[in-house]
Amino acid sequence: MSVPTVETALTDAHNIAVLGSTQTGKTSFVRELHATTPRDVSIWVNERGDERETGIHGVEARDLEDVRDAIARRESHIEFLPADRQSAMPGLRSLLWQVSDATDRALALQVTIDEADRVAPETQSKDVPHRDAVRMFTGEGVKRNIKTITITQHPQGIDKESLRNSRYRAVWAMSSEAQASVSKYGFDWGEVRDAPMWAGVLHYMTGDVLGTVKAAEEYAT
Ligand SMILES: Nc1ncnc2c1ncn2[C@@H]1O[C@H](COP(=O)(O)OP(=O)(O)O)[C@@H](O)[C@H]1O
Ligand SMILES: [Mg+2]
Repeated sequence: MSVPTVETALTDAHNIAVLGSTQTGKTSFVRELHATTPRDVSIWVNERGDERETGIHGVEARDLEDVRDAIARRESHIEFLPADRQSAMPGLRSLLWQVSDATDRALALQVTIDEADRVAPETQSKDVPHRDAVRMFTGEGVKRNIKTITITQHPQGIDKESLRNSRYRAVWAMSSEAQASVSKYGFDWGEVRDAPMWAGVLHYMTGDVLGTVKAAEEYAT
């Protein structure tokens, strides 16, 4: 079977789940991917205040109207800072679906959600609008040319449907409990253990290893 190259995995419209323990290099890797992607518009859904991830490239957008305006101005990088990430997700989903339709899906979009287990938590509840929005991003985004990148240090706590939807999984070292919660995905834990410092192992959905990925130092803030 032929599998895609790392380059293809990082740039096509299919989504990437980024998993691993804290302080392993996940956010730095995606910070670089966000800043350097060839996709047309890359949006990072950040937190305000103490939890705000630093060094995210792009113009600030504090509400959906700002995001809409930034896209209309053809900004390529947007740091979206909603008052509340959970309540902002359904609106962002609907806005980007509109943008995609209006451009006949020609615009290559990218959306990054760090600490994604907070926005798409694992729960038995039926209607959870923010989790359901993330499910739509990861499940149907690709058809609309929207690449979704979800990052979590807590794979036990993230919505498994969103995780299953990912075609690519970048995996960093994690605790054995965390490994057990994703044991079905067929990750090569030996490769993960042997990866260079700060590097994760990019897997295809089949479990095949595509290669290692790692931030350049200037993106490690
Ligand atoms: N490629 C790298 N080179 C040097 N330092 C790195 C690299 N990647 C991450 N780091 C450092 O490791 C720490 C954790 O990185 P971070 O990306 O925030 O990890 P995580 O998101 O997995 O918690 C940071 O202090 C960062 O500067
Ligand atoms: Mg992080």
